[in-house]
Amino acid sequence: MNAFKEIETRRTFAIISHPDAGKTTLTEKLLLFGGAIREAGTVKGRKNSKHAMSDWMEIEKQRGISVTSSVLEFMYEDYHVNILDTPGHQDFSEDTYRTLTAADSATMLIDAAKGVEAQTKKLFKVCKMRGIPIFTFMNKLDRQGRDPFELMEELENLLGIRSYPMGWPIGMGQSFSGVYDRVEKKLELYNPNNPKEIDVISLTGPDDPLLDEAIGDPDLVSQFREELELLDVAGDEFDLEKIKNGELTPIFFGSAISSFGVQTFLDHFLKLAPAPTSRASSNGIINPFEHQGFSGFIFKIQANMNPAHRDRIAFLRITSGKFERGMSVKHVRLGKNLKLAQPTQFLAQSRSLVEEAYAGDIIGLFDPGNLRIGDTLVTGPSFEFAEMPHFSPEHFAAITVKEALKHKSYEKGLHQLTEEGAIQLFKTYNRFVEQQIVGVVGVLQFEVLEHRLKSEYHVDIQLEKLPFSFARWVSGPEKEMESFKKNQRNLVTDRDGRIVALFDNDFQMRTAIDKYPGLQFYENSFIK
Ligand code: G4P
Repeated sequence: MNAFKEIETRRTFAIISHPDAGKTTLTEKLLLFGGAIREAGTVKGRKNSKHAMSDWMEIEKQRGISVTSSVLEFMYEDYHVNILDTPGHQDFSEDTYRTLTAADSATMLIDAAKGVEAQTKKLFKVCKMRGIPIFTFMNKLDRQGRDPFELMEELENLLGIRSYPMGWPIGMGQSFSGVYDRVEKKLELYNPNNPKEIDVISLTGPDDPLLDEAIGDPDLVSQFREELELLDVAGDEFDLEKIKNGELTPIFFGSAISSFGVQTFLDHFLKLAPAPTSRASSNGIINPFEHQGFSGFIFKIQANMNPAHRDRIAFLRITSGKFERGMSVKHVRLGKNLKLAQPTQFLAQSRSLVEEAYAGDIIGLFDPGNLRIGDTLVTGPSFEFAEMPHFSPEHFAAITVKEALKHKSYEKGLHQLTEEGAIQLFKTYNRFVEQQIVGVVGVLQFEVLEHRLKSEYHVDIQLEKLPFSFARWVSGPEKEMESFKKNQRNLVTDRDGRIVALFDNDFQMRTAIDKYPGLQFYENSFIK
């Protein structure tokens, strides 16, 4: 296969959801379709499971959750699918957000009984910021859930995105009978006694009498026809351009646990989702179908995945060209060459060595400490990809080292964890005694921080939780900034010296925003 074809068949996406919506289950089913795993249950350690995928950290084992995100890949038909797994637990980290920068599209998984939940909303925002296509899978239709119209309304009201149902469910919960595929005009029948056995019936349309025969219940059928008519008349039209821009989300209905609707989703998704997309760089747009040279950026660093080896792995998203093991690339920030001799690939539990990879793929590079989040690697003329943003932490603590003598190890550890993106480090601004403040997206990161400083750097720290919930990067005209810096309380600087304002609550934040209309308050460090 030539490089063009290789790249064209790549689909790199992330699944975003709130914990318990069924992400692990859906991922397992997708891997099963791709033949990547033989039986479900090996993707990550469930509660009480003996098979924790990444048991690199004791916390993970203790809590039975996967703290770190990983990459799963499989072949399906001619497609080379890469799923970026984002931690599903409530205590997710900034890693989760950054992982989304490596994805070309996202699948938003929603529990049909619960609708749009908090974590989904946060992750959706990041996808929206990037303008990537978002596909929606309404899960758990085998249980009584919310009315599908209500769910569509919620997408619009809470997330501000219009939707186009690709299929429409017939019944729900006890009465769930199947899903009608509006595009292919197919009826997939749900058999509660044997959900894995899915009968597919081709129809001429929703009025086809075959549908009455297959469903059997006239009330359900007439309700379905009414709903579909309403959808045809009042719903949005299918618009590929809008889907590609992330303005319209195609909705699929199913039940991941019974594999119902999963293959239909996968088939449609692979056709509609984009191949590896262009990225902005200091040298203009890098289009993987035009740019010949190899290029990629680091979006995540994970240290000590295996405590026995003390390794550090940098995850690289290839943005153009072909990777070959042993190749030499330029590390643009350091201005030196690196030989990529020992890259790994992650699939479920195994780690294997990659010989070659293409734009769209993710590879893990063993790194002795040269790489940083946001670094660009290239062959040929140098350029750098746009800076990787930091996102507003939601939990803050003042940090101090318990034994002053260990200050050096403490600083080293903090530096490492900041580079990995596990924490954000701020300094108080214009205070008599400067203080370091740690900000994290998920509160579990505080435990991770304490644990890792102790086990890897032999340092004990003291964390004093602070009442802030929001950080906003602030910029604007010099005069207004000066007045802001003089009058606003709780200002800090980030590691690049940018001014960041911390707020206890939304009200406080709104007040400041109203008071300084000439200033911009950004939710992430990606100040444009
Ligand atoms: P997560 O990764 O998003 O956190 O969710 P996960 O797949 O672990 O699923 C959360 C729970 O929801 C699991 O039940 C799972 O079996 C269930 N589930 C997933 N998809 C469906 C579905 O389509 N229908 C129904 N009815 N349930 C579904 P659990 O009891 O918490 O765990 P387990 O003991 O079944 O593993």
